[in-house]
Amino acid sequence: MKRFGIITFLALLEFSALFAQYNPYPDKSIFAEKRKQFMEIIGDDAVAIIVANPEYKRNNDVDHDYRQDSDMFYLTGFEEPESIAVLRPGAEKLRYTLFVRKRDKLRETWDGHRFGVKGAMETFGADSAYTIDEFDKMLGGILRGAKTVYHNFGADEELSESILERVSVNAGRSDLSMKNARYELGEMRKIKSDWEVKSLRKAIDITSEAHNEAMKSARPGMGEYEIEAVIEYIYRKHGVQRPGFPSIVAAGSNTTTLHYQTNEMKMKKGDLLLVDIGAEWGYYSADVSRTYPVNGKFSKEQAAIYQIVYDAQEAAFKISRPGTSRKELSDIVRNSVIDGLIKVGLLSGTLEEIIKDRSYKKFYLHGFGHWIGLDVHDPGSYTEDGESVIMRPGMVYTVEPGIYITEDDSVDTKWWNIGVRIEDCVLITEKGYELLSDKSPRKIKKIEKLMRKKGLAQKD
Ligand code: GLY
Ligand code: MN
Repeated sequence: MKRFGIITFLALLEFSALFAQYNPYPDKSIFAEKRKQFMEIIGDDAVAIIVANPEYKRNNDVDHDYRQDSDMFYLTGFEEPESIAVLRPGAEKLRYTLFVRKRDKLRETWDGHRFGVKGAMETFGADSAYTIDEFDKMLGGILRGAKTVYHNFGADEELSESILERVSVNAGRSDLSMKNARYELGEMRKIKSDWEVKSLRKAIDITSEAHNEAMKSARPGMGEYEIEAVIEYIYRKHGVQRPGFPSIVAAGSNTTTLHYQTNEMKMKKGDLLLVDIGAEWGYYSADVSRTYPVNGKFSKEQAAIYQIVYDAQEAAFKISRPGTSRKELSDIVRNSVIDGLIKVGLLSGTLEEIIKDRSYKKFYLHGFGHWIGLDVHDPGSYTEDGESVIMRPGMVYTVEPGIYITEDDSVDTKWWNIGVRIEDCVLITEKGYELLSDKSPRKIKKIEKLMRKKGLAQKD
């Protein structure tokens, strides 16, 4: 009894040490809710086979950092590779099975803890669990009685291929078909639950702090990479596991490359700096962009373009509420950008003419925003019943207009290399919206004021 007590105590100690740094979801029932909802959607005739991302080799015996497939995480919270979740909504008892890696003392000494079959059931709530090598021989039984197999294509191509083959061979039953689970899951993922919003808030707060430190740190003569280092220092200081996407720290002419991410140039006086970043917290990614002058003071032209982008964002915020369609948001942002560009003389014609001849596309190259969530560009269709999606409480999207003027453009050289993107995260609430990313300044005067302070990079 005493011995058992010590072992239990040590096991608990090991378990809590594992999660000491990072455990945003101690309550695994949040994933059970998602599984329940998903099983109701796919119905009793269906079985879902949701697989983990494979590990990718980087070089020789070094792998790329591992991250679980977003849908696998959404339904299980399980972060290990070589795992498969099987959901059987029609089953009486064993509705949720996990296939996982074997416990392996030697491998765990090298690579870290594995939950194993026992942990899959005790910690992750699986009704039954097996080691991953059992999956192949159990697949026939899993498919038996099912009419539709839902699978997350695109995670592990080799595994998808073999499941597909088995489904088509399986008893030659004409009524067994395979569907991509990404669609149903994408639709579910459009509406965030309270705990998902909590994770997004945390990711966005840390990202906003990183922006503010970057603004205070930026000086002519520094490298873009130094600003990237400041940003990712803030992330790690807070225990962020990884950025949700490669940080974009683009100065001068790089501001007009939409997904610039080499971050290796030196920043010069007179350059704008476009910083598009997002910390990932508990798998949920922020996405916030700020643009500001490296020397701390906007030039006349930089300020003019910045203000157009700012006003376009404001126009979108004003109509962000339940009932607004994505098309309305898209149109109001586009029209606001066009109006601004007409006023400063970069476009000529009326709003209607410019929309028709699409001349605005030269400067305004991308959509106004996207869903965020487990993926920085979260899935979920932008149309419903053939119409533009209508905003509902729990939806979270970015508003990120951008204007990009390159040296190729047949415009006065005073406009060259001005690339401005401002990006913020909006949560639709019952009454209207909440701007989740308001902890980092957007107004010109406020940015200039913050930039007068010293940042992390200036401290001894
Ligand atoms: N933050 C990168 C993008 O939205 O494309
Ligand atoms: Mn974005």
